[in-house]
Amino acid sequence: MMIDAGILGLGCFLPSKKITNSDLERVVDTSDEWIMSRTGIKERRIAAKEMATSDMGVKAAVAAISDAGLKAEDIDLIIVATITPDMAFPATACVIQDKIGAKNAAAFDINAACSGFVFALVVARQFINSGCYNNILVIGAEKLSSIVDWKDRSTCILFGDGAGACVLGRTSDRKILSSFMGADGSGGHLLNVPAGGSRLPATVNTVKDRLHFLKMEGNEVFKIAVRIMVEAANNAIKKAGLAPEDIKLFIPHQANIRILLAVAKRLGVPQDKIFMNIEKYGNMSAASTAVALVEAGQQKGLKKGDNVVLVAFGGGLTYGAVVIKW
Ligand code: UT7
Repeated sequence: MMIDAGILGLGCFLPSKKITNSDLERVVDTSDEWIMSRTGIKERRIAAKEMATSDMGVKAAVAAISDAGLKAEDIDLIIVATITPDMAFPATACVIQDKIGAKNAAAFDINAACSGFVFALVVARQFINSGCYNNILVIGAEKLSSIVDWKDRSTCILFGDGAGACVLGRTSDRKILSSFMGADGSGGHLLNVPAGGSRLPATVNTVKDRLHFLKMEGNEVFKIAVRIMVEAANNAIKKAGLAPEDIKLFIPHQANIRILLAVAKRLGVPQDKIFMNIEKYGNMSAASTAVALVEAGQQKGLKKGDNVVLVAFGGGLTYGAVVIKW
């Protein structure tokens, strides 16, 4: 018999330091008007120099575990979705496991870029459904400011830092009804950090050529993003036996307000059914959907029985969605 997997607790952490569009006008050749009209972003949070991804993940995790009414020792597994791990290894999940004292938990990271939190939820759900684990901590945490090229105006205006966490457990409240994941590796070159791995290990030249920073072909990614977010959402909705009009709230990856509006149009749903916090935080990759889920839960007056869709796409390329019955 399949055991239901649902949300036991949620929590998030956003660094207090804000960088506004006017601040960026002093760094690169851009304007508040361009950034707002092309992306919908007004400001983003930037973690302090000494704060690593795990430090933000810990704060979100502690909040989520407390919200679930659990203790760190009750956690069986920690999955961290990130493309900005503290270091290549050990996994950021292991660092967090140690820092929060979750001594009974296994821990690993997954890399699915901006789809990471959705993918991690899908993975966690399987362990609950199968009866393997009881309480799983799923974290989306990113310090994108550490890989952004502050000389590249086409990318540095988009990204921010933050973390969101969810404890998934054996409950039919806020239950995951269905999920969908997809990937298209042929689009990997559109969004990547070229150096620092086994293909191009760090050298003086890779640093000089700025190859350790995030590169993106924004226009191409934009076009694909709209199509695959709609495809991912529709697939998950269909698997749940529902139609788009049955969904109370869509919580999409916060990449660009124009992408979100285009997705609403293609899904045939009104804009007010699309959760947006991009204005405040920009794109936080795997942390975006995590923080959006937490804030939507707090702000949107969701009631028991409401259907919610979490949908994301990102580097890989990857894309995925989950339907949650609140
Ligand atoms: O979560 C990861 C997935 N990433 C995304 O979803 C991002 C998807 N892409 C986007 O959001 C958009 O493509 C961007 C916001 C990155 C760019 O917007 P765009 O409307 O696609 O602009 P563009 O790249 O076509 O550039 C248009 C113009 C260019 O100038 P020229 O060549 O027309 O003279 C750019 O150089 O805008 C220029 N430009 C800027 N101007 C002022 C690019 N960045 C800036 C900037 N400020 N920050």
